[in-house]
Amino acid sequence: MPPSSNSLKYLFLGLSALATWIQAPPSQAQTNAQQTIASCSACHGEDGSPKDSRLPVIWGQNSTYLQKQLMSYRSGQRDNQIMGSMAESVPKDLIPSLAQELSNHSWPTKSHEDMEIAKEPVVNSRASGPKSLGLCLSCHTTDPSTTADGTPRLWGQNLEYLLDQMSAFTQDDRTTNESMSAIMKTISKNEQNEIARFFSSH
Ligand code: HEC
Ligand code: HEC
Repeated sequence: MPPSSNSLKYLFLGLSALATWIQAPPSQAQTNAQQTIASCSACHGEDGSPKDSRLPVIWGQNSTYLQKQLMSYRSGQRDNQIMGSMAESVPKDLIPSLAQELSNHSWPTKSHEDMEIAKEPVVNSRASGPKSLGLCLSCHTTDPSTTADGTPRLWGQNLEYLLDQMSAFTQDDRTTNESMSAIMKTISKNEQNEIARFFSSH
């Protein structure tokens, strides 16, 4: 006997309820994620602005990217003692909602002083930017307010942190992405410096 239109309707309602339930994480997970974020602020900043330029901004960062990095710190693929133990202290099943919560926060506005420091050496090459910038923007997006899924925002990221990561990719100290390692090996130290200052000061 063919299913009645009523039973199909209930099946459909059931499926859409299931889909909504999957999309919206239980509020307990959100609460746990918010509590965990408070423990990150000692280093990553109470307002999302880390006090030390060697520390990255993580508020407003791409969620898929954050999730991948937290998993890489946990497994040791991204080797960092501090973040390795921080990421291990977060239960694995909390990581997706933690990444989502962090990503939902707004990217902090930089202080005027930080912007001026980051700008200084690139004043002369300002008009067109460093020569490889176009390549970077093809993945890291030309619009600071959007990110391609899985690709981190670099606009407004802290200067010393960007320099450290570029150097880590160049020297194979960071092996989370083969393309990034290959690309950074083709960019001179001077240009890495220019590009880092360009992104950091915007
Ligand atoms: C004691 C200081 C400290 C605390 C607390 C801390 N972090 Fe970090 N975090 C760091 C440092 C240092 C780095 C840069 C590490 C590196 O070079 O890979 C970092 C990097 C990161 C990155 C990589 C960002 C990027 O752009 O790739 C993420 C994600 C991150 N932290 C998330 C967290 C979360 C979530 C918490 C709280 C559960 C947290 N951190 C707590 C110091 C800290
Ligand atoms: C083919 C796409 C692509 C291109 C081109 C590209 N990137 Fe990336 N970049 C990525 C992806 C994807 C990641 C995340 C890697 C990971 O998962 O660890 C990344 C990560 C980074 C990071 C680490 C950011 C953080 O928060 O830790 C820096 C810095 C960076 N890229 C700089 C550059 C620069 C500078 C250029 C241009 C010279 C460039 N990228 C070109 C895709 C690209």
